[in-house]
Amino acid sequence: NAYETIRVETRGRVGWITLDRPEALNALNRQVMRDLVAAATAFDADEGIGAIVVTGSERAFAAGADIKEMEGLRGRDFAVGGGFDQWRAFADIRTPVIAAVAGYALGGGCELAMMCDVILAADSAKFGQPEITLGVIPGIGGTQRLIRAIGYYKAAELVLSGRTIDAAEAERIGLVSRVVPAAELLDEADALAQGIAAKPLPALYAAKAALDAALEVPLAEGLRLEKHLFASLFDTEDQKEGMAAFREKRPPEFRHR
Ligand code: HXC
Repeated sequence: NAYETIRVETRGRVGWITLDRPEALNALNRQVMRDLVAAATAFDADEGIGAIVVTGSERAFAAGADIKEMEGLRGRDFAVGGGFDQWRAFADIRTPVIAAVAGYALGGGCELAMMCDVILAADSAKFGQPEITLGVIPGIGGTQRLIRAIGYYKAAELVLSGRTIDAAEAERIGLVSRVVPAAELLDEADALAQGIAAKPLPALYAAKAALDAALEVPLAEGLRLEKHLFASLFDTEDQKEGMAAFREKRPPEFRHR
């Protein structure tokens, strides 16, 4: 294991990243950011990987940015390239990422989950943006992604009050994809990830790119992008194979190109 704060493992076409700072409830210090970004970008560059799972422990996905590390910082420490800028690279990876969340996903932990494409939650999961209590606000996407996920009024209530919500409420308001019993979280995450990773890689990249764009661009531009990505897939081997397999009534054998 080349990393200090995470464990990394490959299961078939799925890359697993497990946050491993139990002494601090997986608080996201700069080393966690560096390790997580390095591991995720390495999986992203590997065509043998079709999905990534990020998870924590039973007690905490991540209890936020590391408050003890942040406490003494000044505004200038967040100049371009400093602070938490490397998190951007995590959000930019092209491979689908599933967050498997048990226990606390607070502050930066909630923001990390929202940088993923699917959030699978254990019934023990707790989400929130408590930064306001510390005299700050979410800093790696919390205000922007929460509004896009759950709408202005629910997001504003959570960000302004710092209130923590349980898995059932998170599911009701659309913050999580699905809730499962805590004991089944890792098996469910693996099954979901294996199913995604078996799909043709060019189509997975295109689907994620189109979905991501939908949160950023006007409808007409998004529709244009979708059309171009859709068309480009007709120049892949996997499209020919997928459609031939359908016609021949057999399972497809994708080569992920
Ligand atoms: C540093 C943390 C931490 C954090 C927990 N710990 N959260 N250390 N940064 N965010 C440490 C505690 O200090 C303690 O270590 C150990 O983990 C166990 O935590 P306890 O508090 O003893 O556990 P418990 O009583 O069960 O309470 C759990 C908790 C609480 C409710 C999650 O730890 C908590 O409120 N944590 C802070 C949550 C938070 O405010 N997150 C937002 C951070 S700001 P010691 O050694 O002291 O016993 C943020 C900004 C993001 O995320 C912006 C950009 C990234």
